[in-house]
Amino acid sequence: MIEAVPTAISEHVFAPSASDNAVVNVDHLNHYFGDGPTRKQALFDCCLKVEPGQLVIMTGPSGSGKTTLLTLIGALRSTQEGVNRVLGQELRGLGAAELVNIRRNIGFIFQMHNLFDSLSSLENVRMSMELRKYSAADMLRLATEMLTKLGLGHRVHYKPRQMSGGQRQRVAIARALVNRPKLVLADEPTAALDKKSSRDVVEMLQALTREEQATILMVTHDSRILDVADRIVNFVDGRIESDVIVNDTIKICETLKKSDVFQHLSPTELLNIAQKMKREQFGKGDAVFRQGDEGDKFYLISEGEVDVLIQKPNEADPRVINHLSSGAFFGEKALLSGDPRSASIVATVATTLYALGKQDFQSALAASGSFNEQLRKVAFQR
Ligand SMILES: Nc1ncnc2c1ncn2[C@@H]1O[C@H](COP(=O)(O)OP(=O)(O)OP(=O)(O)O)[C@@H](O)[C@H]1O
Ligand SMILES: [Mg+2]
Repeated sequence: MIEAVPTAISEHVFAPSASDNAVVNVDHLNHYFGDGPTRKQALFDCCLKVEPGQLVIMTGPSGSGKTTLLTLIGALRSTQEGVNRVLGQELRGLGAAELVNIRRNIGFIFQMHNLFDSLSSLENVRMSMELRKYSAADMLRLATEMLTKLGLGHRVHYKPRQMSGGQRQRVAIARALVNRPKLVLADEPTAALDKKSSRDVVEMLQALTREEQATILMVTHDSRILDVADRIVNFVDGRIESDVIVNDTIKICETLKKSDVFQHLSPTELLNIAQKMKREQFGKGDAVFRQGDEGDKFYLISEGEVDVLIQKPNEADPRVINHLSSGAFFGEKALLSGDPRSASIVATVATTLYALGKQDFQSALAASGSFNEQLRKVAFQR
């Protein structure tokens, strides 16, 4: 899957820009379900800023809050705490009628697709076009074209109950996309589709972002389609645990693969690790960590160089014992042993590192015997 990704994807800027044209700007968003003693927090301090033209894939275990966030952004439920600006409009505090208006500008592809049973595919798609200024002829043409594009050209007069789950799903997709919305929210849009149709649907979504600068937020568990994403946001227990541009993920995978320690990992294991790594920048002379600190992260050098320094008790100054550059990793020793850092690491030039937190490091060790074994060997030799 990773190999299939073109390597020359243009550089995307990860840091949310200061510009105000973000299509989605979620800031310190919390959400609770229930009241009184049964009140349960489903989202914790979520921050997500998405610019026009981005295709964002949201992943994470069941119950981690993906649908909750999507429904808040889609004005399908009221925002309780935090900022939730969508298409330039703050949704917190809006009434039901105003929320309905916001929803008109969003294309929804949700699992419960709510097609009208008494209407044909074509009529279902045309329903969503009625509030727009299309001529009757255009409406018919555009709806038919969209259904045909989704492989339902021969099913335009069928009613939902005469079609399979996957076909109904495609009618719902046609309905969501026919108005070419600037924002599409999709909750597992390919769940009921076969491999070929899944690919067609995600490529169509991708084309929409390229051609119309549409923004797409898509929840998926399907790792085969991750390559269409510009960005992958991972949820755990109601929190955004990582937010990585795909270029970074690919780059990390490529760097990981070159190292002896990682090369025996499966693509899925590699992707799992890469997704959890966060980019950290250091200037010339900055210490990444110091001898004696508690070990909290494992690091991979993306670009730049660092010195490894050791301070001996009987010596006046620390001594440089090693020099590491792009592709090298460090920081595993303290995490494996639980001892404090045995050396200091200082950047000698502007350096970009990918850091893996202690817990994610431990889960990677637990998930892969070969990773565990190789790392212990290296740590022992250092
Ligand atoms: N209407 C609701 N009432 C009460 N709790 C809810 C409601 N909807 C979601 N939750 C709870 O909020 C948490 C997040 O649910 P959510 O549906 O957002 O997860 P998800 O990441 O979309 O999971 P899945 O991958 O299974 O679709 C879960 O603990 C869930 O039980
Ligand atoms: Mg869900």
